[in-house]
Amino acid sequence: MCSAQPDSETMHAAIEMALRAPSVHNSQPWRWRIAGPTVELYADPDRHLAATDPQQRGLVLSCGAALHHCTVAMAMLGWQAAVDYLPKPDDPDHLATVRFTPRAASRTDFELSAAVLHRQSDRRRYSSWRVPSGYIRTLATRASAHGAVVRHVPAGLRPHLARPARAAVDQHAADRAYQRELAAWSGRHGTSDGVPAENSPLPDPGDEIPVRGFSEPALPDRTRHPDAAEWLVICTPADDRKSRVRAGEAISATLLTATDLGLSSCLQTEPLGLPELRDDIRTHVLYDCAYPQAMMRVGWVPTCAAPLPQTPRRPLAEVLDQ
Ligand SMILES: Cc1cc2nc3c(=O)[nH]c(=O)nc-3n(C[C@H](O)[C@H](O)[C@H](O)COP(=O)(O)O)c2cc1C
Repeated sequence: MCSAQPDSETMHAAIEMALRAPSVHNSQPWRWRIAGPTVELYADPDRHLAATDPQQRGLVLSCGAALHHCTVAMAMLGWQAAVDYLPKPDDPDHLATVRFTPRAASRTDFELSAAVLHRQSDRRRYSSWRVPSGYIRTLATRASAHGAVVRHVPAGLRPHLARPARAAVDQHAADRAYQRELAAWSGRHGTSDGVPAENSPLPDPGDEIPVRGFSEPALPDRTRHPDAAEWLVICTPADDRKSRVRAGEAISATLLTATDLGLSSCLQTEPLGLPELRDDIRTHVLYDCAYPQAMMRVGWVPTCAAPLPQTPRRPLAEVLDQ
């Protein structure tokens, strides 16, 4: 049996990269602990967005995405991860304990790690350049390694995404708790969390599938043509907490692969926070075969689009328990 173990400096470096993971409203709802040769990941319920994400699905997905970012970074540093999910049944916030064995990094490990540094949520409209079907298949293959399915939504099914998305926008417009939370977590400048004003364009009510709006949108989106994004639904065969952690890993694998392929991407989850609208998507887009965990737009921003500012993150010291 091999007894080699990563040193704490290596694990610190990987956790630091994991902090670049996407999270709902950039809430970064995670805590980390290095325990001997293992890395432990905890959900941080103090950063739960109760009005936006009442079932904590987005919170757990965000942590799953960070877990995958961590294992990608460790793989690039020469350590293969073995994840023990929800290792303590009496502590549901302890989402994972990760152990490592040495393994030479592959080219994919380097490509995905580079994507960690470059991936960004791009909410602008995407151009009419087609996304090759082989790219969609590659995204689906990477997600399937984490027990999730990527459902590409063909044009004929898009009205079944558009209807609940529009209903969610309307319901949330009249929901004061949701609006208060949105105002507290977006439209920010110079903070270490939340969605900055510079990263959100003004949503266009004429878009075929409406997307979540944020406070004080200040990102120019000068594209005149309609959004030509491809829509994906990431779904899982079960809907328990472990399935959601794994769906978060699959979301991360899909986003990082998209970035590596040169695609822009952005998650969309607004209707999934409302149980009846989530059921609607489950029935009409997934034929009741699987549970929708997140929707994702992928495509190409026009070549003339300005670079996006990188969203902020809390420093490692704030999220690492000693
Ligand atoms: C579970 C989850 C749900 C999200 N839902 C949305 C959404 O509905 N709309 C949106 O524009 N971005 C959504 N995002 C993207 C986050 O807002 C984004 O990751 C965060 O602001 C950090 O920015 P970055 O992705 O550019 O690093 C979601 C991210 C996660 C992980």
